[in-house]
Amino acid sequence: MAHAVLWAAIAVPVLVKALAPPATSLIEGVVLDPNGLPIGGATVRVQATLVEDTSDAEGRFRLRGADSHSGFRVTAWKKGYYVVGAEARPGASDLRLILDSHAASDHPAYEWVAPKVERSAFDERQLHAALDEAAKRSLSEAFFPLAERLTLGCRDCHDALYEQWASSAHALGTRNPIFLGMYNGTDLAGNRSPPTRRARSRDYGSIALKPSPGAPWYGPGYKLDFPDTAGNCAACHLPGAALDDPYGIDPNAAGGVDTLGSHCDFCHKVAGVVLDPVTGRPQANMPGALSLKLARPPPDEQLFFGPYDDVDVGPDTFLPLMRQSQICAPCHDAGFWGVPIYESFAEWLASPYAARGETCQDCHMRPDGTTLNFAPGRGGVDRDPASIPTHGFPGAASETLLRSAVDLQVDAARAADELIVKATITNDGTGHHVPTDSPLRQMLLLVRATDDRGVPLDLISGPTIPGWAGARPASSGHYAGLPGKGFAKILRDLWTGTTPSAAYWKPTRIVEDTRIAALATDSSVYRFAAGQRPCRVEVTLLFRRVFIELAEQKGWDVPDIVMARQRLELEPP
Ligand code: HEC
Ligand code: HEC
Ligand code: HEC
Ligand code: HEC
Ligand code: HEC
Repeated sequence: MAHAVLWAAIAVPVLVKALAPPATSLIEGVVLDPNGLPIGGATVRVQATLVEDTSDAEGRFRLRGADSHSGFRVTAWKKGYYVVGAEARPGASDLRLILDSHAASDHPAYEWVAPKVERSAFDERQLHAALDEAAKRSLSEAFFPLAERLTLGCRDCHDALYEQWASSAHALGTRNPIFLGMYNGTDLAGNRSPPTRRARSRDYGSIALKPSPGAPWYGPGYKLDFPDTAGNCAACHLPGAALDDPYGIDPNAAGGVDTLGSHCDFCHKVAGVVLDPVTGRPQANMPGALSLKLARPPPDEQLFFGPYDDVDVGPDTFLPLMRQSQICAPCHDAGFWGVPIYESFAEWLASPYAARGETCQDCHMRPDGTTLNFAPGRGGVDRDPASIPTHGFPGAASETLLRSAVDLQVDAARAADELIVKATITNDGTGHHVPTDSPLRQMLLLVRATDDRGVPLDLISGPTIPGWAGARPASSGHYAGLPGKGFAKILRDLWTGTTPSAAYWKPTRIVEDTRIAALATDSSVYRFAAGQRPCRVEVTLLFRRVFIELAEQKGWDVPDIVMARQRLELEPP
């Protein structure tokens, strides 16, 4: 009983506060630089709310609509300055916000902060207890100085974001066996194909030849064809290492944070992208790091670019680019030898999604709808969950994403002794072609028709799956010649004639591109000899990560993912 009384005593005032209409207040003030000169054009905001104003030429601002729910912390930001914040009194007319500028040029001597600092379980407990304690006392005064004295990784404050990123392809770097196998010309067990034989060609000079038929072959590799150069692969796959030496980084020799692919500190040091003003796309032969402008700070300074203009703890500033597809472009839009290879950004740019302002982030960094705070207990403030992007970057390995990518419609009819099947695929969930980017990817449509005993029906007319889906009949997963279709960008190696070529570091030609563009539809019709028995139709759409022969050469275990499946049963007419 005593407990209940105590509860009521606590609960009532809270309830009253919640029911009373919050009194909104006007907050006025001025934005200045450290010399006391006014700063106009700064975005001023009641933190974590939509209440905002832009400072005028005298630096003055007025914020109307702050209330006890939103709190009265006011922040200011302008390009070139750190975000600053201060607690205001409701009704204040004299709030002063002093903006400090940050270094804008790039300092290559900067050492990356690790996403995660490895320590013993004991040290981890001690450190986090100290951080918890500091956070309780005062965030900005006690906590951040403490944080500066310790070696912290992003994970120590952004635990959930770290876990998301760590499970994404961006975190793979040199741990991706498919990437390394294609770089080195090795299979999963480490066997290496023999060095490429070369010959002189009148048109090209020294060219690579086909592998000798008798020799063991573990698939292609950049290093087999170009043993003396490191290539540009690191410009996108290990961008932190490539910044200062874009063509000189051999992934096998990378170490430390550099091996972690696109890591936290790298993306959050991006200050701009260099795109062709006419096409809006990266310039030719400027992949990844070459088209990204970074602002690594000078010694003893720190700087993070992020998507908010109201984060006033620590050395943070806002970068509108963070919310735009353009930040993805340098690594997701590039050609080799003038042939477009990675194209998701270009495809998006040409699609209705770009016109509608639906970005890569909207689909690949979608908020989870439940997270309120992305640095809980570490100085983070509660925000609208819809304003907190995630970092899982789902892609071709995500069954959930692939199942949302397209719509599959199947119609079937019996006529005389025939079965007619129509399969319609609409790319209604993908902001670019499907499949996109890596030309190793394919989508396979399998149309299986049997009678009620399971005996396959003969195809009278209609498309069949192309040879590149695997021509060996017996082995499972070789589907060439079966009723259905394949969707892929197929490259031919100009020097060796190999088709499909996965060695796009050599000159290639696109021999076909059957991928389905954003919001486009592909229909195909199949006529089967059905006799007079009941029959069954099963239409399956598969996503295949790499060409089957390449997967076999390399010993990669990359199971197909079912994107959609429809089953129908039909009685004879
Ligand atoms: C312009 C940036 C860029 C450059 C340069 C680049 N890549 Fe990539 N690479 C990517 C992106 C982005 C992906 C992911 C695309 C996807 O998943 O479809 C990728 C994916 C891959 C994959 C597929 C990995 C998997 O798990 O399926 C391989 C293999 C690969 N790259 C090899 C290379 C090699 C070898 C080089 C150098 C010859 C290279 N890449 C150069 C951006 C680049
Ligand atoms: C490939 C580039 C990339 C990498 C890698 C990356 N981020 Fe981000 N991050 C972004 C972009 C882009 C946004 C803004 C997205 C938006 O607003 O739509 C963002 C947003 C954020 C935010 C704002 C809050 C939120 O929930 O998104 C924080 C904090 C953050 N990142 C921290 C991290 C940390 C910590 C890591 C590593 C564990 C990391 N980022 C890795 C690109 C990256
Ligand atoms: C000592 C704790 C701590 C560490 C370590 C830390 N952060 Fe943060 N970070 C914060 C807090 C607190 C915020 C603000 C949270 C809020 O406003 O809700 C923040 C905000 C951010 C933002 C948003 C900035 C903006 O203006 O949009 C980015 C981006 C970010 N952090 C990236 C990183 C990256 C990358 C690392 C590692 C290199 C890192 N942080 C390490 C505590 C930390
Ligand atoms: C610095 C280069 C770089 C930037 C910037 C970058 N990416 Fe990537 N991204 C890559 C590379 C490289 C891979 C493939 C890594 C691998 O598979 O080993 C990749 C993989 C992906 C994948 C997963 C593909 C899969 O098969 O799982 C998605 C989705 C993705 N990126 C989306 C984005 C989005 C969205 C942005 C912009 C917010 C972005 N990327 C910015 C280099 C980059
Ligand atoms: C409307 C939602 C949507 C938008 C917008 C969008 N994507 Fe995707 N993306 C998807 C879906 C669904 C898939 C899975 C199907 C596929 O692989 O094509 C995907 C796949 C990918 C993959 C994995 C490809 C592979 O085979 O590994 C990458 C990389 C990627 N997207 C990058 C981007 C980039 C970069 C942008 C912006 C320029 C972008 N996406 C915009 C929905 C979207």
